[in-house]
Amino acid sequence: MSENKQETTSSLNAKSEAWSGRFNEPVAELVKRYTASVDFDQRLAAFDIQGSLAHAKMLAAQKIISTEDFAAIEKGLTEVQADIEAGTFEWLLDLEDVHLNIEKALTDKIGDAGKRLHTGRSRNDQIATDVRLYLREVCDDAIEAIKKLQMSLLDLAEEHADTIMPGFTHLQVAQPVTFGHHLLAYYEMLKRDASRFADCRKRLNQLPLGAAALAGTSYPIDREMVAKLLDFDGLCENSLDAVSDRDFAIEFTAASALLMTHLSRFSEELILWCSPRFGFIEIADRFCTGSSIMPQKKNPDVPELVRGKTGRVNGHLVSLLTLMKGQPLAYNKDNQEDKEPLFDTADTLLMTLEIYADMMRGITVHKDNMRQAAFEGYATATDLADYLVKKGMPFRDAHEVVALAVRYAVDKKCDLSELRLEELQTFSETITEDIFSVLTLDGSVASRDHIGGTAPKQVLLAVARAKKTIQST
Ligand code: ARG
Repeated sequence: MSENKQETTSSLNAKSEAWSGRFNEPVAELVKRYTASVDFDQRLAAFDIQGSLAHAKMLAAQKIISTEDFAAIEKGLTEVQADIEAGTFEWLLDLEDVHLNIEKALTDKIGDAGKRLHTGRSRNDQIATDVRLYLREVCDDAIEAIKKLQMSLLDLAEEHADTIMPGFTHLQVAQPVTFGHHLLAYYEMLKRDASRFADCRKRLNQLPLGAAALAGTSYPIDREMVAKLLDFDGLCENSLDAVSDRDFAIEFTAASALLMTHLSRFSEELILWCSPRFGFIEIADRFCTGSSIMPQKKNPDVPELVRGKTGRVNGHLVSLLTLMKGQPLAYNKDNQEDKEPLFDTADTLLMTLEIYADMMRGITVHKDNMRQAAFEGYATATDLADYLVKKGMPFRDAHEVVALAVRYAVDKKCDLSELRLEELQTFSETITEDIFSVLTLDGSVASRDHIGGTAPKQVLLAVARAKKTIQST
């Protein structure tokens, strides 16, 4: 997405206010700066022009403007678009926003025909349309970026289908899991995130144009035609709602906040894992920085920033909800304040996804450290309990027996699997030689062999299913 952001100029003689005839004095300079949105909404220019072209085409088809006027508008808007892309367009603060800037530039180029473009339309339905067109594209970009991140996660999971690490609850070693299985948990979260963006796109892809300022318009417009030209799935069916609600922007930001929250959790894990206290992984140098004072440091800046930027996106969600909550129908200028949180959410989201996909490819896994951590944590205690249950002991009793065995091993400073058979048998006579295959880390993970389980075989199957899903969408 190109930004096309340029400095705006304040020109004193821009006798351009679309409403100037109604006023006795010019708007104060400070107020102009306070109310202007052109500094940030100029990035909607391409969508604004796209919407205007469709609107003008419809006006001509309905004989509301002449075909000559439409031809002039089309040519003029194409030139304006080229000026904007070339960076030669002069954005004027006096013209308040992206809409008036473009309309004025068009009129400067083509004269009266330019002044006819706004027939049957208001900036209220115009901005609602622009934002929907913009967000539709962002949703598509987000879904694509999620897929790329998922693919790099899947590659790593495949590579580590049988790499053993401790699984945690309460950040205490719980049961052994495979690293591939752990990574697949994030694949699942991202899968739901992608479907939230697809869902959000579906609901926002309805055309507001035609609502005009709030009540509709008396011109014989053809809204279906405009919807078709702009690839909308349907029409906003109430003009007051069309110009005033920004629930789609809130939904988009909520979906973004959730995705960021998922990546923030993952980031927290990466940060822990690359701390020497864990020593599970290393993150490639291109994602880290050093310390200006401590020469030994390599800091995981990127995951830390993802965690930090999640706060920022969550904040944008609260901004938008708060922006909306007190507004009476229909359009209020408050809505202009939706742009910056929205743009920043989209930029943060897309950049985070892109960087994360690459970061996955730059992870080095220290398998021995992972395995050692699982080994030291009595992670197979549950397996011993399950073994006793299979030999006929009620689970609650088995739980207690294993607790005593763990206590014994803790005192001896060894793992359960390092106890001799005779020692284990002091806890239950039903224990036989076959216990040792159960107490190993590999035996433990391999036994969780069902859909959703951590067995290496299941991880490979899950990766294959996931890759197929991604490739087919
Ligand atoms: N800049 C405004 C926005 O972002 C555009 C619509 C302004 N409409 C108006 N009547 N002032 O919402």
